[in-house]
Amino acid sequence: MTQVGNKEIEEETITERHNRILSSITHDLKSPINAIISCASLLNEKSREDFSDPMSGEFLKMILKAGHEAHSLVQGILTMAKMEAGKDKIEPELVFDIKGELSETINTFRYEAEARNIKIIIEVENPLPVVRWDMKRLRLHALNNLISNALKFSPSGGTILVSAETDGNMVVLKVEDDGIGVPPEERERIFKRFEQVGLTSTRVFKGAGLGLHNARMIVERHGGDIYALDATKGKGAAFVMLLPFTAEEPMR
Ligand SMILES: Nc1ncnc2c1ncn2[C@@H]1O[C@H](COP(=O)(O)OP(=O)(O)O)[C@@H](O)[C@H]1O
Ligand SMILES: [Mg+2]
Repeated sequence: MTQVGNKEIEEETITERHNRILSSITHDLKSPINAIISCASLLNEKSREDFSDPMSGEFLKMILKAGHEAHSLVQGILTMAKMEAGKDKIEPELVFDIKGELSETINTFRYEAEARNIKIIIEVENPLPVVRWDMKRLRLHALNNLISNALKFSPSGGTILVSAETDGNMVVLKVEDDGIGVPPEERERIFKRFEQVGLTSTRVFKGAGLGLHNARMIVERHGGDIYALDATKGKGAAFVMLLPFTAEEPMR
């Protein structure tokens, strides 16, 4: 068979695989959305009879959790589509307080972390430089996903370390956990869209497998790099982002 023939066959299989994964994701979207709707209706009926019902709080938590799951799946798909179509340009601005940005990002995960007894610690070099990045997109597409992955794979009672230091004219942002880690042979593949560790035909972990792909796209648009390592303390995963002080989109 010719090389072209082989390539065509390979691309057909990839497209089929992506379609299958997309339909499985859409299927996953249905259950959180259904949960949102039924919990909201139950809450609505209950609260009319009894505003002090203790179950109301539980329903509200379920609504929030399901809502966030659905939202992050949809967000991942939309981000990928936009960035791949070249429609989502970065808008770098001066960032004076990297530590503050890290703390604010972490705060949105506090509730989930406390519920599972997971500590999130920040360690930064002092002082850090003023940089020129698109912090909004870095938080939304990269940091949020690294921290949510770290939480997803952390054992109860675990610790997540978020750190920032300089190396030459780069800032090194790192998110480390003490979870199951990423085997060395999977460390590149997980950055490809829809890929999760150890998976060939089924998805075991919730999520679309788009988070790291999107994170890499946004980091590369800053002229930076992102990769996975062993956590410094041996067990668990570390995800490292190298970002130049001033974001510069590389020439294509
Ligand atoms: N902190 C981590 N510890 C262990 N495995 C991880 C971690 N972060 C990511 N992974 C692996 O990389 C895969 C891809 O991550 P991601 O692109 O964010 O997709 P998703 O979170 O939707 O699965 C995960 O499914 C998991 O297999
Ligand atoms: Mg993820």
